[in-house]
Amino acid sequence: MTGSAAEVKAVFKKKFKEEPHLYYSPGRINLIGEHVDYNDGFVMPGAIDKGIFFAIALNNSEEINCYSIEFDESISLPLSEVKKMEGWKNYVLGIVNEFQKLKLPVKGFNCAFGGNIPIGGGISSSAALEGGISFSLNELCNFKMSRKELALLGQRAEHNFPGVMCGIMDQYANMMGKENSVLLLDCKNVTHEDIPLHIEGYEIILINTKVHHSLAVSEYNLRRKECEKGLEILKKGLNIQSFRDIKDPVELFPFKNEMGDEVFNRCLFVVEEILRTQKAAVFLKENDITGFGKLMFQTHEGLKDLYEVSCKELDFLVNAAKENKDVIGARLMGGGFGGCTINVVKHEGVESFLVKILSAYKKEFNVHAENYNVKVVEGTHAI
Ligand code: GLA
Repeated sequence: MTGSAAEVKAVFKKKFKEEPHLYYSPGRINLIGEHVDYNDGFVMPGAIDKGIFFAIALNNSEEINCYSIEFDESISLPLSEVKKMEGWKNYVLGIVNEFQKLKLPVKGFNCAFGGNIPIGGGISSSAALEGGISFSLNELCNFKMSRKELALLGQRAEHNFPGVMCGIMDQYANMMGKENSVLLLDCKNVTHEDIPLHIEGYEIILINTKVHHSLAVSEYNLRRKECEKGLEILKKGLNIQSFRDIKDPVELFPFKNEMGDEVFNRCLFVVEEILRTQKAAVFLKENDITGFGKLMFQTHEGLKDLYEVSCKELDFLVNAAKENKDVIGARLMGGGFGGCTINVVKHEGVESFLVKILSAYKKEFNVHAENYNVKVVEGTHAI
């Protein structure tokens, strides 16, 4: 995406000839806890300084006019005709649709947006778009919904318009993120604890494979179904409500035949990952970054072999990271099938790590991978 706050404001003023309100809506990282948000697990996301700037104002009409700087495309549509459309438009209109379903009177608005978040990079540009629209409309139309309600509204929008049956992690991190803290998010109760990030001497580096798998959405929804199927089988045999009630992965083995290998592997990963994330939270609170990093590598192994959401480019980057003594932990981040790896790297080793890994990647795949050195910031806010 392209655009700073000032650029987005200038584009808006040129197009709509008035002063806008300005908002920033962040993308997210997730340190650990992958594919468990829709399985009642724990995850550890944070909002980041890669995101989207919005310039927006009510327009005293019944029209939505919204312009994406990146795509150089617009929506111009009466509020009464909100419907599913292609691509980015679905995220904007999905939010308006959810407000309308709550009988909240969305007013006509003009908007231009753009930013510095890579689209399809697994950093949740979609939640950033949803969050910016919902947060700004909530303020401008005076709906008085809480941040948590807006996160849940964003999740429903994503289910109902683009059709990704996502968990709550991305929208929650986008709304509730706190500077220099990650959220230990309990996805069953939708509550969180802020864990301050004391990682002095280390940096969080994302490396973008630039791979965007066309099957990512259908495979994502399929994983969710496979987990539901496995849980039904487990509930019949064990006294549990959800995967998090299983305290030892060995409890799964008696159900392997009934589940079949694929569903069994998905469930094994989920149970392990929920336990791993809780262990990781203890390490982080104790400033044991080395212990934390080892768990990140384990998560990657599980995502690759059991959950099967990795790809050769992600595996290449994680293997290369593992060989570097300055890398404490690395794994694929987000839904998988492409997007970014997240790496925790010793400050003094960052430069040589990047030189080596980016040139090795170029040599192997003939693609220039991108790197982002991210900071953890506040959730969506007015600027
Ligand atoms: C996507 C979804 C999230 C989460 C991750 C995987 O980012 O939107 O809800 O499931 O994948 O952890």
